[in-house]
Amino acid sequence: MRFTDKRVLVIGGNSGIGLASARRFAAEGARVAICGRDPQTLAQAATQIGAGTLAVRADIAAVPEIDMLMAEVAGAFGGLDVLFVNAGIGAFVPLRAVTEADWDRVHGVNLRGMFFAVQKAVPLMSRGGAIVLTGSIGAVKGIPGGSVYASAKAGVRALGRSLAAELVHEGIRVNTVSPGPVETPIIRRNIGLPPEAEHELRAQMIANIPMKRMGEPDEVAAAVLFLASDEASFITGVDLYVDGGAASF
Ligand SMILES: NC(=O)c1ccc[n+]([C@@H]2O[C@H](COP(=O)([O-])OP(=O)(O)OC[C@H]3O[C@@H](n4cnc5c(N)ncnc54)[C@H](OP(=O)(O)O)[C@@H]3O)[C@@H](O)[C@H]2O)c1
Repeated sequence: MRFTDKRVLVIGGNSGIGLASARRFAAEGARVAICGRDPQTLAQAATQIGAGTLAVRADIAAVPEIDMLMAEVAGAFGGLDVLFVNAGIGAFVPLRAVTEADWDRVHGVNLRGMFFAVQKAVPLMSRGGAIVLTGSIGAVKGIPGGSVYASAKAGVRALGRSLAAELVHEGIRVNTVSPGPVETPIIRRNIGLPPEAEHELRAQMIANIPMKRMGEPDEVAAAVLFLASDEASFITGVDLYVDGGAASF
């Protein structure tokens, strides 16, 4: 029960890694708020996470929607102890096919949206607060078709370190969790990936993971909760790989 009475916001908490994390936060005593764009999965997720979950529909690509999200969280919780900025979209588009719209869509959520989510949440947080960002091993691996996504996620790594340095004086820790391939709906939602290529993509990813399997959302959630908890009280600015060894060997 590491999060008894803690107020936790999971941005991108209605699916995959975010949902698994939100469920664990609630199971360990937290008051949980989640956000995403899809009202249907938001409602389903809130039921799974448990009674009292605050589910807010917001698109973090639009800064006024982030303002609205933070106002709702402030109204309901009166502040925040943990912010998990996890919302992200995937893309596999070869260099020559990338459009400005692809670039803006991916960076608008994965990096710009993340930055403004942190900026707008920090005023709700006080000393002892923790922020966790979701990066990706895509930031440190060269993957054909991955340039748009990888550059945004490399930005997340940089953001994590800079914000950790800036917020350490306010007693707020900032860390990044970088998953390798994890079995979630993002695999079939990737921009530029035709449905018939999904099977081959999964096989290729598994072949490149030393543990020869995909990760499970709960395996990433375990790392997120550790970094968000007081057990990680002397840890800030790190990028923790949860990837079956893929980034390291
Ligand atoms: N699965 C992997 O293999 C893997 C590997 C490395 C990193 N990651 C990262 O892990 C994070 C979670 O991904 P996942 O695998 O769990 O995928 P997922 O199941 O597709 O979850 C993505 C989450 O982000 C939310 N989201 C997307 N765009 C949003 C927006 N504009 N505003 C608010 N919420 C938004 C989605 O909700 P709505 O659709 O309702 O908006 C959903 O809750 C992402 O940052 C992803 O890049 C995943």
